Amino acid sequence: MPELKRIGVLTGGGDSPGINAAIRAIVRRAEPAGLDVVGFRDGWRGPVEDDLVPLGRAEVTGILHIGGTVLGTSRTNPFEKDRATGEWRATPKVERILDTLRRRRVDALVAIGGDDTLGVAHRLAAYGVNAVGIPQTIDNDIAGTDYAIGFHSALAVVTDALDRLHTTAHAHHRVLIVEVMGRDAGWIAILGGLAGGADVILAPEEPFSIREVADALRQRLEAGRRFSIIVVAEGARPVELGGRQVAQEGRVDAFGHPQLGGVGYWLAAELEKEGLPLTPRVTVLSYLQRGGVATPFDRLLATRFGVAAVEFALAGRYDAMTALRGPDVVAVPLAEVLAGCPKPVGPEFLALARNIGVR
Ligand code: F6P
Repeated sequence: MPELKRIGVLTGGGDSPGINAAIRAIVRRAEPAGLDVVGFRDGWRGPVEDDLVPLGRAEVTGILHIGGTVLGTSRTNPFEKDRATGEWRATPKVERILDTLRRRRVDALVAIGGDDTLGVAHRLAAYGVNAVGIPQTIDNDIAGTDYAIGFHSALAVVTDALDRLHTTAHAHHRVLIVEVMGRDAGWIAILGGLAGGADVILAPEEPFSIREVADALRQRLEAGRRFSIIVVAEGARPVELGGRQVAQEGRVDAFGHPQLGGVGYWLAAELEKEGLPLTPRVTVLSYLQRGGVATPFDRLLATRFGVAAVEFALAGRYDAMTALRGPDVVAVPLAEVLAGCPKPVGPEFLALARNIGVR
C-alpha cells in the first residue's frame, strides 16, 4: 500500500451545521501524523476542475461552530445513469478526477456528505481512488450509522419553530401545518415533531389520508383542544394522490432526485374542504433547517468522525464510512451503507408517536 502523505477533503450535497467541525478535526488529527491536507471546493466539482485550497491550522481556526462548509458544496455528479440498464456509468469527469488526484499527489480522499456524495466515493473505488466517507445530511437517512452530522442541528431548528408556533396556534385557535425537509425519510418530521409536541405527524414511511387527519383534529376539538400542530414531511405520501409525493414540476437534480415541496399547502387546501371550525395555516421551514450554528451533539459527532476518518485512512480502511453505533465510532463498508439507503425511520419511533397519542 503506497505511503499516505496527502489527504484531500470535499463536502458535497445538502449542507448542515457540523461540516466545518469535521473539516477542523481532520486537519488537527492529520497534523501530528505528518499528513498534508488540501480542500477541494464545492463537492466533486473541485476534483473535476482541479479547484483546491491548502487546509492547515490557520484555515480551520474558529470554524468549529459555524454552519455551512468553508469549502462550499454542490451536487456535481461525475457519473450518469444509463437509461437502459439503470446503472451508473462514468462520464469524462471521472478521468478528470483521477488526473487531478495524480497531479496533486492526493493519496486519499475524505468525502463528507449524504448517500449521493458517498455513492460517488464508492464508485470511484473501482478506479483506484482511496476514499473514506463521513455521513452528513439533515435527513439522517444514511444507513449503517445511528446519526449523520447535521440531523441534530436540524432537530433544534424544528423544535424551536414548533415551540414558537404553539403559542400563536393556541391564541388564534388554529391548525398550523409545518412542512419540514427530509426527502424520502421522516426522521426530521417524526423526531422533530415528537420533540416539539406536534399533535399529528405525517411521514413518508406511513401514507396518510385526509379523512384520518380530519378525524384526529375532530377528536381534539371534542376534547376541548381548539388548536393543533401538524408536522408534515416534504416527502409525505397522501393516499388521495396514490402515495405520490408533491414535487416542483420538472425539477430533478444530478442524482435524479425531484425537488420536493408543497405538500403543506396541498394538505391545508384539502382540510379546508372538511368543514372543520378551524383555519389551517402553513409554515414551510425549508432551508432554515440547514442553517445556523451546530449543536454540541453535532460538533462532537463531527469531531469524532473527522478524527476517525484520518485514522481509517492511516490504517488503509478505504471504501468505508465512519459510523456511530451506540457509544462507538466504527468503519462500515460503503457498499453496505448504500445498500440500506435511504434509511427509513425505525418502528420504535413510529410506535413512540402512537403510544403518546400522536397520529
Ligand atoms: O438532502 C438534504 C435536503 O435538504 C433535503 O432534505 C431536501 O429535499 C434537499 O436537500 C433540497 O435540495 P437542494 O438543497 O438542492 O434544494
